[in-house]
Amino acid sequence: MVGMIRRVHKWHFLHLLSTCLVLSGIMVCWDKLSVIPYHYLGLGPSFKINSWTISREEACKFSDHHYLINHKDKCESDNVLLLLFVKSSPQNFARRQGVRLTWGNESYIESELGVSVKVLFVLGVHSQPESRRLIQSQLYQEDQKYHDLIQQSFIDSFHNLTTKLLLQFNWAHTHCSLAQFLMSTDDDMFIHMPNLVHYLQQVNQVGARDFWVGRVFINSGPVRYKSNKYYVSPQLYPWVTYPAYTGGAAYVVSRDVASRIHQASLTLNASIHIDDVFMGICALVIGVTPEAHDFFSGERKSPYHPCIYKQMITSHGHETDLQELWKKATSPEVQNVDSGFTGKLYCSLTKLRLLCSPFNLNTYPCKPSTIF
Ligand SMILES: *[C@@H]1O[C@H](CO)[C@@H](O)[C@H](O)[C@H]1NC(C)=O
Ligand SMILES: *[C@@H]1O[C@H](CO)[C@@H](O)[C@H](O)[C@H]1NC(C)=O
Ligand SMILES: *[C@@H]1O[C@H](CO)[C@@H](O)[C@H](O)[C@H]1NC(C)=O
Repeated sequence: MVGMIRRVHKWHFLHLLSTCLVLSGIMVCWDKLSVIPYHYLGLGPSFKINSWTISREEACKFSDHHYLINHKDKCESDNVLLLLFVKSSPQNFARRQGVRLTWGNESYIESELGVSVKVLFVLGVHSQPESRRLIQSQLYQEDQKYHDLIQQSFIDSFHNLTTKLLLQFNWAHTHCSLAQFLMSTDDDMFIHMPNLVHYLQQVNQVGARDFWVGRVFINSGPVRYKSNKYYVSPQLYPWVTYPAYTGGAAYVVSRDVASRIHQASLTLNASIHIDDVFMGICALVIGVTPEAHDFFSGERKSPYHPCIYKQMITSHGHETDLQELWKKATSPEVQNVDSGFTGKLYCSLTKLRLLCSPFNLNTYPCKPSTIF
């Protein structure tokens, strides 16, 4: 009898132990499980594109804002290679000035690179009603001087970025439909304009259709922590993964894609405020998938080095060092830094050291194609 009780206890104990192990295993892996694309495994509700379709009248309401500042004829010349939208906020005067003095200088691009690029800053109105009047009058002055702002009447905020996206594609469709490429970027980005232009010219030679390039996110999903900036409620987005998209900080699409995205947006529910995710939804509708480019940076600043400047396209998080970086990254020495056997070896070793260092995660990937 006593022996039997002992056996039962032992059995119970083992049972308890194994249950605990399984449970703790699940808890440890929970974070990782939540990124599994359940809809591929048939485990969750499947993503239905139809549920985003709404009538034209309803979709119209998402972009029903009037222009306060516009330049309808900015794009009149017929040979525009790139229409470049810089998402900016009304109060970011200094950042816009930094862009004008460096990579956003249209005359520099025209004279040095021999192509036409049109740069426009895209804005809503300042979010604080108390400061709005003053800032607005400063914006009018700024625009008098540089003629490069477009502004609509919606409130400029993180949660209105999809509205800003609709503005860009709508403007491109209405006023610049012949530009070969459309790019959208932020006012704290560094763009290596010579590298970008050469790259786009190469793409153009093989005929750019269905082209969408940037930093690609696949199988990322909505953040469900309410305190997070990127929080999206299950009501707004019930699925666990987003369609593939490029980071909103910098991406380029070809003319045909820009036009079809615009068409798609005319019957889509734009209530999801994360603009790059909305772009992913539009692209899914038109059947275009994004292509990754290693030298479109992640969220961090690119390492400062001539071997990197030789290949970089974009770099994130530049507010005060644009002019210094622009000068260094476009200086003539950079062109020869990796020439010859020793130059190649030197740059490969340097990139190995810089890109594979844990301090430079989320800049450009550490992999053979970026190193060699
Ligand atoms: C833009 O570039 C041109 C040509 O290189 C130069 O003359 C001009 O000063 C630059 N403008 C600004 C605002 O830096
Ligand atoms: C977005 O803009 C609209 C129009 O100005 C405004 O009513 C709304 O409050 C804004 N949303 C956010 C989250 O700022
Ligand atoms: C758009 O989607 C949101 C969130 O799912 C929903 O609340 C809203 O009713 C939808 N709008 C239309 C016009 O269907």
